[in-house]
Amino acid sequence: METAQRPVISATGLFTPPESISNEELVASFNRYVERFNADHAGAIAAGEVAALEPSSVEFIEKASGIKSRHVMAKAPVLDPDVMAPRWAERADEDLSILAEIGVAAAQDALARAGRQARDVDAVLCAASNMERPYPAMAIEIQQALGIEGFAFDMNVACSSATFGIQTAADYIRAGHARSVLVVSPEITSGHLNWRDRDSHFIFGDVATAVLVEDAAIAPDAHWDILGTRLKTVFSNNIRNNFGFLNRAHPETADTPDKLFVQEGRKVFKEVVPMVAQMIVDEAERLGIDSHGLRRLWLHQANAGMNRLIAQRVLGHEANADESPTVLDTYGNTSSAGSIIAFHLHSEDLRAGDTGLICSFGAGYSAGTVFVRKAG
Ligand code: COA
Repeated sequence: METAQRPVISATGLFTPPESISNEELVASFNRYVERFNADHAGAIAAGEVAALEPSSVEFIEKASGIKSRHVMAKAPVLDPDVMAPRWAERADEDLSILAEIGVAAAQDALARAGRQARDVDAVLCAASNMERPYPAMAIEIQQALGIEGFAFDMNVACSSATFGIQTAADYIRAGHARSVLVVSPEITSGHLNWRDRDSHFIFGDVATAVLVEDAAIAPDAHWDILGTRLKTVFSNNIRNNFGFLNRAHPETADTPDKLFVQEGRKVFKEVVPMVAQMIVDEAERLGIDSHGLRRLWLHQANAGMNRLIAQRVLGHEANADESPTVLDTYGNTSSAGSIIAFHLHSEDLRAGDTGLICSFGAGYSAGTVFVRKAG
């Protein structure tokens, strides 16, 4: 009798942009913009017609978020008070687009670690919170650049794109539709961050990750068994971005700040922490896993305080850096890639039989859990 296909994580890959911005550099640029704005609008501010802008601070950013610096694809324009957005030369249609380029780099890293040839991969999912264009799919461009046959498509579940991608890939493998699936998450979040907004200008960073999900029968010896996955969505306007092709129908508002990332950070914090902690505990119970005994949590990297609270509820005690590692300090919030970076950088030391959890949460709201066990 044929045994059923069993999905595992064969390897992960990471692309980190070489340039980074420290909190000090970021705040200096933001505060130059604030000074200039207030000087330019001095009359209107004195007349009470325009509100003066408040400066940002390094201390606040680190205390409120745990972020110390972030990588970006284009540092100079982001720090230029006249631009405060990423900029690069537009590429010809024949050239690899920038989002595909960093996705390919992360995918190649994952393939090399698994000892897998691209031609043996059956499908590519580009799972990320912002695509560079509506079509052709970024995933198909990545597929072509890597020389993969089969099929590819884009999926966007904001910060939970990668975990939703892992479950989708795992389902293809269980169903026998594919044996090797790349889930690629290129996140150029600097493009949708409002670098002029004091409440959020420090949050995001750029990166790309890849996860190779495969049938256990073809996976390398060193792999991670997927014990179970669970997805959850609950509609909320507390994290929102109204950018889209239909904005052209309203040219007078096409450039307003709601076409970038907007959030009610406090509400997100309060509503998402209990929802995610409960989801993890329920799913662990369903899988027969003692959540207090989890060896490591690779949580979504949005805010150090959120992760502290979630880890405490899941583990039953205050987690140390070994139990709940952070990459927020150097990467910032990288949307769907965050928990995958944490897993990629902090999983090699675990031993065969150790059980851990990859977990994402964010806009939608959306949340995903992937319980894994080191094989061997
Ligand atoms: N520099 C200095 N002070 C600042 C500031 C800045 N850059 N931004 C805000 N403040 C001030 C505010 O003016 C406010 O002052 P007040 O209390 O005197 O009015 C105070 O800091 C609190 O602001 P608030 O925005 O409520 O801060 P916070 O402690 O909630 O932290 C976040 C903000 C965004 C870091 C935090 O809420 C968060 O991370 N939430 C979850 C976000 C999340 O997961 N999002 C998902 C994205 S995918």
